[in-house]
Amino acid sequence: MRVLAIESSCDETAAAIYDSQQGLLSHALHSQVDIHREYGGVVPELASRDHIRKVLPLVQQALDEAGSGRDDIDAIAYTAGPGLVGALLVGACFARSLAWGWGVPSLGVHHLEAHLLAPMLEPEPPSYPFVALIVSGGHTLLVEVTALGEYKLLGDTLDDAVGEAFDKTAKLLGLGYPGGAALAKLAESGDIKRFDFPRPMVNRPGCDFSFSGLKTFAMNQWRGSDQSDQTRADIAAAFQLAVVETLVIKAKRAMQQTQMSQLVVAGGVSANTLLRQRLQHAMRDLHVDVFFPRLEFCTDNAAMVAYSGCQRLLRGEHDPLSIQVHARWPFA
Ligand code: KG4
Ligand code: ZN
Repeated sequence: MRVLAIESSCDETAAAIYDSQQGLLSHALHSQVDIHREYGGVVPELASRDHIRKVLPLVQQALDEAGSGRDDIDAIAYTAGPGLVGALLVGACFARSLAWGWGVPSLGVHHLEAHLLAPMLEPEPPSYPFVALIVSGGHTLLVEVTALGEYKLLGDTLDDAVGEAFDKTAKLLGLGYPGGAALAKLAESGDIKRFDFPRPMVNRPGCDFSFSGLKTFAMNQWRGSDQSDQTRADIAAAFQLAVVETLVIKAKRAMQQTQMSQLVVAGGVSANTLLRQRLQHAMRDLHVDVFFPRLEFCTDNAAMVAYSGCQRLLRGEHDPLSIQVHARWPFA
C-alpha cells in the first residue's frame, strides 16, 4: 500500500509518501517560523493561511520525488488532531477532498501516535511492546505501548509541556521563537554548577511531570541577576540539565515499573542532544534499548503521519465522508 500524507497541525506544512513494501519514498516540509517569529509565537490565523498556500506545492513535490502519480497512491492520511483547529482543517479538507476525487480511502491520524511511531522509520526500529516518552511542544507523556493503538498512560504533565517550558524560558532569556533549540545551543557555553535548579516531582511516586515551576525558577534567577550574557548561558545550562535529569528519572521509573526493555523517545524535544545522551547512558545500566527518530523526524513532519496512517489503513480503517478534526484529542 502506498500512502500520501499531509501534516498541518501547527506551524509546519509537510507532505510525504510511504510505501508498506518499500518504506519512505519522499518527504517535503515548509516551516513557518519566519512568519511567526516577529510575534514571538504561532499566530493561528497566519498559520492556516500559510498552510493553504503551501499544501499543494508540497504534495506535488512529494509525488515528484517519489516518482509517483495519482494512480500509484492507494490512500491518503492526514493529521486530524490535536493541534490548531484552523490549521488542522486545511490539511483535513485538502486530504479528504483529494481522496474523494481520486476514489481512494483517507484517514485522520492522531499527531502523538504519529510522533511515537516515528522511530519505526529508522533502519533498526523498535518492536512492540515498548515504553514511549513523548516530549513535544504541547505534550509530555510516558506511555506503555503494547501494540498499535493499545496505549496505557503512565505519566503526564500536570501543567506545562516540556517543549513549552523550553520555549517560555527561552523567551524570558530573550532567545526569540522557537526557543527550545536556541536555549540548548546557548546552554553549551553555560556553567551548569552556578545555579541549582530543583528536579520537580521526583520525590513523589509515579511518573507525572510538572515543568511550570522550573520556568518560574528560571525567571526569578534571571530577574535577580546581572543579566549578562554569561548569566544567560548559565541559567540556560542549569534549566536544561534540570529538565533532562527529571525526564531521565521518570523514564527510568517507567521502565522499572513495566519491566520492559525498549524505550522510544519522540517529539520535538527528543532532538535535544543532552537528553539523548543522558537517556542512552541511564538506560544502558538498566539493559534497556533506546530508540529515537532521526533529528529531522523529531519535530513535526509528514513522514511519521504517512507511516502511522499506513499501519491503520492496512487494518482497514478509514474515514467517512464528513470531515472532522480535534483540537484536543485524548491519547490513551
Ligand atoms: O513535536 P514538535 O515539533 O511540535 C509539537 O507537536 O509540539 O515539538 C516542538 C517543540 C518546541 O517546543 C521546541 O522548542 C522543542 O520541540 N525543541 C527542542 C529542541 N528542538 C525542538 N527543545 C529542546 N531542545 C531542542 N534541541
Ligand atoms: Zn508535534
